Amino acid sequence: MLQNSEILFTRRSIRKYKKDKPVSDDVVGFILDAAMCAPSARNKQPWHFLVTRNRQKLDKLSELHPYGKMLKDATMAVMVCGDTKLEERESALALNGAAATQNLLLAAHSAGLGAVWLGMYPRKERADAMREVFDYPENIIPVSLISIGYPAEEKPRNNNFKPERIHLEKWGENWQ
Ligand SMILES: Cc1cc2nc3c(=O)[nH]c(=O)nc-3n(C[C@H](O)[C@H](O)[C@H](O)COP(=O)(O)O)c2cc1C
Repeated sequence: MLQNSEILFTRRSIRKYKKDKPVSDDVVGFILDAAMCAPSARNKQPWHFLVTRNRQKLDKLSELHPYGKMLKDATMAVMVCGDTKLEERESALALNGAAATQNLLLAAHSAGLGAVWLGMYPRKERADAMREVFDYPENIIPVSLISIGYPAEEKPRNNNFKPERIHLEKWGENWQ
């Protein structure tokens, strides 16, 4: 288990997974608990999480998502969704779902899993295609699909810090 801020700096998108290493119920519960700790507008928590560890479903998802071939080797996937019956503003559903997605990615990393965020929102054709797998009703708006498994690749930490993107007190006054 990684601790504290190390998790933030070492998370990477992991697209290769160990075969035959299942994710236990405890770990699934842990990452979903973290997802549901995310901030949400007016604390509505308007999300749902469609979870699969079924090989046929993972294979089908890999065929349906245009950039989701890694799902073929994934151990599980989580589709983070918003519910228009809980929050009518679609933009809020997307933002809240994004916050939950990032929490889930960080929790997965801290538990020794590898994961990658696959884009769903706002592509309606992807949402419609994946209804075949999860059978969700019209009020459910998929925000992201997360491919998860124990990592079979290692990546260095990102060095994305760009001082020129930081504007101190006003636009144009850069950091250092
Ligand atoms: C909204 C969003 C959509 C993404 N969609 C995909 C995707 O469809 N397929 C994929 O392999 N990665 C996808 N990614 C992952 C990005 O490619 C990845 O985060 C980026 O290249 C930076 O790499 P890192 O996560 O290792 O820092 C997506 C990320 C975000 C935030």
